Amino acid sequence: MNTTKKVLLATLAAGSMLALAACSGGSGGGGGGEGDGGLIGVAMPTKSSERWIQDGDAVKEQLEEQGFQVDLQYAEDDIPTQVSQIENMITKGAEALIVASIDGTTLSEVLQNAADAEIPVIAYDRLIRDSENVDYYASFDNYIVGVQQATSLLAGLGLTDLEGTEAADAPEGPFNIELFAGSPDDNNATFFWNGAIDTLQPYIDEGTLVVKSGQTEFEQAATLRWDGEVAQSRMEDILVSTYSDGSTVDAVLSPYDGLSRGIISALTDAGYSVGDEWPIISGQDAELDSVKAIIAGEQYSTIFKDTRNLAAVAVDMATALLNGEEPEVNNTSDYDNGVKVVPSYLLESEIVVADNITEVLVDSGYWTEEEING
Ligand code: BGC
Repeated sequence: MNTTKKVLLATLAAGSMLALAACSGGSGGGGGGEGDGGLIGVAMPTKSSERWIQDGDAVKEQLEEQGFQVDLQYAEDDIPTQVSQIENMITKGAEALIVASIDGTTLSEVLQNAADAEIPVIAYDRLIRDSENVDYYASFDNYIVGVQQATSLLAGLGLTDLEGTEAADAPEGPFNIELFAGSPDDNNATFFWNGAIDTLQPYIDEGTLVVKSGQTEFEQAATLRWDGEVAQSRMEDILVSTYSDGSTVDAVLSPYDGLSRGIISALTDAGYSVGDEWPIISGQDAELDSVKAIIAGEQYSTIFKDTRNLAAVAVDMATALLNGEEPEVNNTSDYDNGVKVVPSYLLESEIVVADNITEVLVDSGYWTEEEING
């Protein structure tokens, strides 16, 4: 764990203890909604991706440690289901809502109902757009995540190191690269894309990187609902349309491990095999199967976002709000949801490649050696 994280965790732990002390000491057995067993609604997008299960578990566990009851719901990426789950939480008397949205633009009405009932709302990981009724936002620095994804590709190609410093003996290229983006209804997707493209563009401009398919627009690269099968079939189409002339793909920008797995399947089906001709592929979330794919040489990198820390930020925000305090934030400029700039706490992410899996993922207790090698 790096120093910033240690400090952050210590701060969060201290904050949580203070909140607990305030609850047990201050409420005199009465209500006040201060961690006294009140209900908190937690809405997560889907169980189809491992990271959201980790998030949901961590948020629930940490809220329960604070004495809250938790209504944790997953919506299987179906927007009406998520809306009705949140509606139910309001009806059940939730005192706060923590919401990781499916489509960041579809919750305005239900959040108005939450506001009418004076229920504070914390956007979790994904910004909720087009609503004034989003009180705080807990996330990672999503632009930097995109920078890290692109930098890992440059490093994998030998053009830079993992910090982005140009390599002295950088190959000239040109290298063929193909670009994938996340779901267009997820506010994070454009942040990842912008961070990545800003990093790759100089290399595209000088001709070191070539997007051979010509598909360089976000709209062309976007993958609705972050669906791995959609990415797989787009990669298959690109391989047929662009690489049937004997040329090969050298790198693929993928913003999420689930998309990377689809891309890997398309490559394997097209006859690519791990070795010299196998492209450098990025990812995100350090999902177990993808960590194994990194060890197997199929995927080059992923971005680790420690869901335990994100949960701690969201839980701390909720606790502070219910205690009538102001949650801690570290960004009040970047996350404009179309109606207002939502005060945010942004955590740091880390690039994971084969060499630092043990240091970043095992030593931090995120995955065990057995899970990774099993
Ligand atoms: C999250 C990513 C995740 C993606 C797909 C994004 O909103 O920030 O961590 O890979 O959704 O689930």
